Amino acid sequence: MNRKEDYFDFILPTKVKFGPGLRNHVVKEIVSRDFQRVGIVTTEDILELGLPEGITEELKSKGRVIEVFSNVTSNPHLSTISEGYEAFRGFQPDCLIGLGGGSAIDATKAISLCLANDEPDIVQLDRRDERPKPCVPFFAVPTTSGTGSEVDYWAVISDSRSNRKLSIGSPEMAPLTAVIDPELTLTLPPELTFFTGIDAFSHALEAYFSSASNELSDTLSIKAMELVFRSLETAVENGEDLSARGDLSLASTLGGASMQHVGLGLIHAMSHQVSGFYDTNHGLANARLTLPVLNFNQAEVPERFEKLERQLGGNLRGKIERIFEILDLSQYRVTIKEGDLDEMVDRAITNVNAETNPRQPVRSEIEKLYRESFIVE
Ligand SMILES: [Fe+2]
Repeated sequence: MNRKEDYFDFILPTKVKFGPGLRNHVVKEIVSRDFQRVGIVTTEDILELGLPEGITEELKSKGRVIEVFSNVTSNPHLSTISEGYEAFRGFQPDCLIGLGGGSAIDATKAISLCLANDEPDIVQLDRRDERPKPCVPFFAVPTTSGTGSEVDYWAVISDSRSNRKLSIGSPEMAPLTAVIDPELTLTLPPELTFFTGIDAFSHALEAYFSSASNELSDTLSIKAMELVFRSLETAVENGEDLSARGDLSLASTLGGASMQHVGLGLIHAMSHQVSGFYDTNHGLANARLTLPVLNFNQAEVPERFEKLERQLGGNLRGKIERIFEILDLSQYRVTIKEGDLDEMVDRAITNVNAETNPRQPVRSEIEKLYRESFIVE
């Protein structure tokens, strides 16, 4: 054993507590650490569904003081982070809970970093020369299955002034514990189930093809892809199927752990620009890019492609096409403006995710991939 991929570090700073019905375990975590003032970061949708109530009631019964910030939107913006910071500044929580999809969990990471450093603007914080103070400790309780944000230390935040998606991360921004209860995903509507499932799949696929991949990350990535192939259709068609929901929750976590260690690739480098400019759903943008990017990469790493087909039992492209047929993707029109394309190509090629793509593209190749994947007009 002396190949590059035989040498690796693998540290998962987040404790994972996984299982149906376990959501209130987060209360045990808080009590055992003697945290007293709990800030909950979530969305209006989650609040309306009444999902936080079980957790808040139990926290109150243990004498904890709670403040809820529920203004997180999908693709959270810098203004959401400063608003969350202001909402909690007077309250001074000693821990936070991010309850929701990737947007709520990413917002929690950013807000907790801002609170610890007494700085409402996370961009300013990121630019400081000195290392920021570690986050206010926080827990992640995902209600979707896709982003993997519950086990990584990256927060993707939109800057609407520049149409950029900023990836801000450091090991100090990892959740203390991810409490992953697949029951929380039972009410996810079919469309969201599909797009978050595609996101989980694209993390696993890109981590597998990452130039930094290793045997351990491959094991996680391949298992995550298997789970999505096995259960995405069932979860979309019958949201109440807990076994399928459990598969997707696990796929999200495995894909997240894998990408955390070995990075992603061009699908994400390019899709973040589409979402940054047009607020396009992340899973949808990834779905459009998946096959064109896979075709682009395959020639560079044919043996990796063949290994994956062997592991997954057959025609990879066919399997991907079949999961894309679960929802009629032609109903979603995503267009890129001709005038934005140059800027998007520039940003994609310098995006951190492009660094681990197995084939290093030139500008014209990125432009071609955008034209192949989206309507440009
Ligand atoms: Fe993603």
